[in-house]
Amino acid sequence: MSSAAPFRAYLIREEEGKIVGGFAGMTEAELDRGEVTIRVAYSSVNYKDALAATGAGRIIRRYPCVGGIDLAGTVMASADPRFVPDDQVIATSHDIGVAHHGGYSEVARIPADWVLKLPQGLSLKEAMALGTAGFTAGLAIVRMEENGLKPANGPVIVTGATGGVGSLAIDMLAGLGYHVVALTGKEAEKDYLLGLGAKEVVLRQSLDLARIKPLGKETWAGAVDNLGGDVLAWIASTMKQGGTIASIGLAASMSLNTTVAPFILRGACLLGIDSGYIGEPYRSGVWRRLTLDLRPRHLAALTRTIRFAELPSVFDDFIKARAKGRIVVAIGGE
Ligand SMILES: NC(=O)c1ccc[n+]([C@@H]2O[C@H](COP(=O)([O-])OP(=O)(O)OC[C@H]3O[C@@H](n4cnc5c(N)ncnc54)[C@H](OP(=O)(O)O)[C@@H]3O)[C@@H](O)[C@H]2O)c1
Repeated sequence: MSSAAPFRAYLIREEEGKIVGGFAGMTEAELDRGEVTIRVAYSSVNYKDALAATGAGRIIRRYPCVGGIDLAGTVMASADPRFVPDDQVIATSHDIGVAHHGGYSEVARIPADWVLKLPQGLSLKEAMALGTAGFTAGLAIVRMEENGLKPANGPVIVTGATGGVGSLAIDMLAGLGYHVVALTGKEAEKDYLLGLGAKEVVLRQSLDLARIKPLGKETWAGAVDNLGGDVLAWIASTMKQGGTIASIGLAASMSLNTTVAPFILRGACLLGIDSGYIGEPYRSGVWRRLTLDLRPRHLAALTRTIRFAELPSVFDDFIKARAKGRIVVAIGGE
């Protein structure tokens, strides 16, 4: 492909206050600055991508912007000595797909500091089946372990269980030997969650979130929370002594109305997980562990691959809490 050749991208624009996404022809001259030009093979769909593409969340900081916070592909050209043509690489988060043209594009140009060599043992497609969701689940586990979490401490609850981060966190934690409890809103997905390794499945509808005590029954040694709001407040109040919560998401709410009781009387910790801008040694360290002990055992089964042309049809499921597992987008890969 010559540098002047047009390629296809999914461009998100703001028009008269409304967010509009659509396929567009672009050229390399229109891409943002960066040292590494990549022929994109695969991208993925995260909750954040759906918020950005539909405007359900004001995620994008610069319009127009090619969506897609994740990408994997092959280096076409590099002005940075760390990468040479034909290297297989991945890039996730940072400003990608929010303030820098992202992965929903046949060609991407990315600052070298945001690019990683494809971790050994993963294909480009597997790397995108993990994507930001897998990196974030892995980072949460690494940070909780640093904080003393181990399987012998007791059960770990995962909320937003059928989603991308939730599914992968369940799989990884179960693989490490944790007793995982999946909290979901989807009654019909019990078998799916047990199949990923959850030992118990709890329905969100069964919780009495209207009456959360400052200190409830000590239950959880760890928690991976994708929801925020009342569910996170309930988790905080039911942590065991010295338990650790990884706060990842806000799928239910940005708010958190709780008391300090779990933190000062039970020594519970609330760890903030930010996959976007976390640096080394975490970035390459987590990706390495994703190829080793954190490698999900059901990655293929929980992932579905769609064609680039199908991309606009999947965003709504994320916004309406109907998403399940991970979606890989074959940009040039299939
Ligand atoms: N901090 C970070 O760096 C980081 C990185 C990645 C993602 N995130 C955040 O983590 C969350 C999960 O991301 P994801 O990509 O896994 O999303 P996802 O695939 O859409 O999964 C979210 C899951 O949460 C549950 N859910 C969705 N909307 C809900 C609502 N209104 N009320 C209650 N439950 C709801 C659903 O699972 P059930 O039906 O099974 O409950 C849904 O499948 C998002 O908020 C995302 O923005 C943060």
